Amino acid sequence: MTTMNFLRNMLVFVYVYVLLLLSLSVSAKPATFQQDFKVTWADTHVRPVERGRAIQLKLDQSSGCGFASKYKYLYGRVSMKIKLVPGDSAGTVTAFYMNSDTDTIRDELDFEFLGNRTGQPYTVQTNVFAHGKGDREQRVNLWFDPSAAYHTYTILWNHKHTVFYVDEVPIRVYKNNEAKGIPYPKSQPMGVFSTLWEADDWATRGGLEKIDWSKAPFYAYYRDFEIDGCPMPGPMTCASNLRNWWEGAAYQELTPMQARLYRWVRQNHMVYDYCHDKSRFPVPPPECSAGIY
Ligand SMILES: *[C@@H]1O[C@H](CO)[C@@H](O)[C@H](O)[C@H]1NC(C)=O
Repeated sequence: MTTMNFLRNMLVFVYVYVLLLLSLSVSAKPATFQQDFKVTWADTHVRPVERGRAIQLKLDQSSGCGFASKYKYLYGRVSMKIKLVPGDSAGTVTAFYMNSDTDTIRDELDFEFLGNRTGQPYTVQTNVFAHGKGDREQRVNLWFDPSAAYHTYTILWNHKHTVFYVDEVPIRVYKNNEAKGIPYPKSQPMGVFSTLWEADDWATRGGLEKIDWSKAPFYAYYRDFEIDGCPMPGPMTCASNLRNWWEGAAYQELTPMQARLYRWVRQNHMVYDYCHDKSRFPVPPPECSAGIY
């Protein structure tokens, strides 16, 4: 009898343990600001708030500010919750991006949040630099007020594609089309960066709307940092391991639900796509050809 009980308990234990392992293998690792990031610009303007659970970035006439991850990562998924500058934020830019920090053949994946006059929509600009070449801007107007609450912004980067998400909605997909001669960021690890700065020469309505310094200081808030990827320096075998969860079948292409949301964004909220900008690109760049982005 006791042996039976023991065996049953063992089975339950193994079962729970396996479930736990499974759940761990698909959920990203929480990161903390203190352990995983460092202030890289104006530490007078970066401070912990909400009892250390969130970070506040400040922009005033003396300075903007920024922080960066201590490690670089080669493939993986990075996300954070951000609450953007409220009210009249025209001329301010809050950025969240990954960057290889290499001068000439830079790889970079950008989210840039372009402020606006009170009541006007925030714009999210994304860009992809591969092997030193960028100029791949797309812009989407957000369908909610991103300064009213925290929302999650995510970059998924694997061998198959790079996807930018706003909450659960994919707003951009950049596929790995190396087979067609199109550059893809694939061998340089990238750090995770964020900055809050002034760019009123271009950000809002192409620079027509200037920053209103009488509304300064401007604040943006960050929390719930998650990074899961192959940290570098680290074992090279990690990045090429196709068993990493972010390389898994569920992340190789958009799910039908995600594809539907992505179409909805492109049809209803996209305000600029370099692929359709004839004045900049009389011949559209090769990655813009039908069906590959
Ligand atoms: C700001 O609001 C204007 C007017 O609604 C809109 O055209 C523009 O896309 C918005 N965003 C930026 C960054 O200018």
